[in-house]
Amino acid sequence: MNRSYDRWTFVNANDLHVGSPRSYRFDPSRNENWQTARGQILALRPDLLLVGGDLTMDGCLHDDELRTVKEDLESLPFPSYVVPGNHDVGNKFTPVQGAWGYDDIEWNVKSEWLRQFASHFGPLPWTFLHKNVRFTGFYEAVAGSGLPEEAQLWDFLERLPSLPAPAHHVAMLHSPLFFDHMDEPTYDPTVREEFVRWFFNLDRGPRFRMLEALRAARVDLVITAHLHVRRPVQTVEGVGFLKAPAAGGKPQYGDVWPDGDDTLGFHRFDVTDERIDITFIPLEKVSRAEGYGPRGHPPRHLRDYSLAWEKGMRTP
Ligand SMILES: [Fe+2]
Repeated sequence: MNRSYDRWTFVNANDLHVGSPRSYRFDPSRNENWQTARGQILALRPDLLLVGGDLTMDGCLHDDELRTVKEDLESLPFPSYVVPGNHDVGNKFTPVQGAWGYDDIEWNVKSEWLRQFASHFGPLPWTFLHKNVRFTGFYEAVAGSGLPEEAQLWDFLERLPSLPAPAHHVAMLHSPLFFDHMDEPTYDPTVREEFVRWFFNLDRGPRFRMLEALRAARVDLVITAHLHVRRPVQTVEGVGFLKAPAAGGKPQYGDVWPDGDDTLGFHRFDVTDERIDITFIPLEKVSRAEGYGPRGHPPRHLRDYSLAWEKGMRTP
């Protein structure tokens, strides 16, 4: 029989989007907002922090951004466990250019970028036990890429059910499995009206394969980021899906769902053997600082490093 634990706390924060003034784009408000969130998290004295990706603005292009966030997290008095987001290791894989004018293929997730991320934050995927919870983290957007990391992910997910399972199992990904609901279609990125939904979910094949793997591993809560909006937990076949907010990046998609809210902040989780209580904590203050440069996933010719406030970025 598993031993019993007193109530304890962990925190999840996502989409920090910490950037650099040596980049082709920089928004100091994101760095400042993360520092506000960081101070509030410190005051909670959690056992551990989960960070659900987009730690950086352009970490895939700029190793220095990954290093900065790593040092920042390492200086906290409790451990952090992270998965990458698309700004850290590249976007959901597509073999075709999408309808929004980005260079989608250049921004596809790459083994090189995944290895660069792992060189700072350790190997992916991961799973570990803390008290009465198993925590599992992985980068879901390799699904459908055909990269070696995709085969490694499916192997890992198939092995999960054989591992010891305490009272709870919490998984952290960057992208939601679904935008609106589990049964939605595979969207087409070349159709302008479908691009956003395509960008923020998984295609049906990987989505259902992942759901089955999570069910088999008795995952009871899946925390996802990427959207910068939070919604109440949606339960599908016994698995709870929590869309979680941004702690540093800009609010977005706050008006998509009646129960959606893009207020910047993070979630606190209070754990007992019986339940996990989830509390949203908004940022105490939101920065109004302004920066420079393009948004989205701009093609190379729109990444102008002469705009940088400080020089010397090592660029690809
Ligand atoms: Fe993000």
